[in-house]
Amino acid sequence: MNATACVPSHVAIVMDGNGRWARQRFLPRMAGHRQGVTTLRQVVRWSIARGIRVLTVFAFSSENWKRPADEVSGLMALMARALSKEVPELSQAGVRLYFPGDRSPLGPEVTAGLVAAEASTAHNDRLVLNVCFNYGGRWDVVQAAQSLAQRGEEITETSLSAAMALSHVADPDLVIRTGGEVRISNFLLWQVAYSEFYFSDRLWPAFDEAEFDHALAVYAGRQRRFGQTPEQALAPPTLSSSS
Ligand code: IPE
Ligand code: IPE
Ligand code: MG
Repeated sequence: MNATACVPSHVAIVMDGNGRWARQRFLPRMAGHRQGVTTLRQVVRWSIARGIRVLTVFAFSSENWKRPADEVSGLMALMARALSKEVPELSQAGVRLYFPGDRSPLGPEVTAGLVAAEASTAHNDRLVLNVCFNYGGRWDVVQAAQSLAQRGEEITETSLSAAMALSHVADPDLVIRTGGEVRISNFLLWQVAYSEFYFSDRLWPAFDEAEFDHALAVYAGRQRRFGQTPEQALAPPTLSSSS
C-alpha cells in the first residue's frame, strides 16, 4: 500500500487543555496559552514534514468571550504578539495563513495583523494554515446563508459551501481534539459531515510528535465509506460508482 495515500490532506484540531496544563503546574492560565503557541509551531512543522496540505486550528471560539475579562484580553494580546513574531518564519516555511471567523468585534490592532498576515503569505503553497479566531460553526452557517440571501442566490449545498469561511479548502479528513473532552464545542459543524475524529487525553501544551503520529496512524487504519457499504468502499472507483 502506498503509505502517503493514507496521510490526511486536511487535519483540523481543537487545541484544548491549556488552562489545565497551567493549573497542574501552579501557573496562571495564560502560561498554558503561551505554551500552546509553541505546540502549534511544532505541529505546523510536523504537518509539513508528513505532506499534510491543510491544517485548521481552533484558537478562539465565539463562546470564549464568556471567560473572565483578563483571560480574554490576554488571549487577544497573545494573538497580536504571535502575529508579529511568528508570521515571517511561517512564511519562510511556505505557510499560507487564513483567519476564518467574525472580525467585527476584534480590536484594530488584531484585525490589522490578521489582514497583513493573510496578504503577506498569499503567495505560499506548501501548507494552508487556517487559524479559526472568533469562529463558531453556527456563526459560519448563518453568515453564509445571510450572504447568499443578500445576493439573492439560491441556497443549495454547493452555494452554501462556497459562502462558508473555509470555502478555500476541502473538508477536513481528520479532526483531532486534545484535552480529553469528547465534544465539538461549536467548531466546524457543516464541514465535518464525513471527517474522522480522534480524541486525545493529552493537554494541548503537552501534545507531542508521537501522539500526533498516533492520531495519523489511527486515521490510516479507518475505512471511510461516505454512505457506501464496506465492499463498495474497498473497490477502486469506477465510472459507475457514483450512480
Ligand atoms: C484551549 O484551552 C484554548 C482556548 C479555548 C482559547 P483552554 O483554555 O480551554 O484550557 P482548559 O480546557 O481550560 O484546560
Ligand atoms: C474549544 O475549547 C475552543 C477552543 C479550543 C478555541 P473550549 O475549552 O472553549 O470548549 P468547552 O467550553 O470545554 O466546550
Ligand atoms: Mg477548554
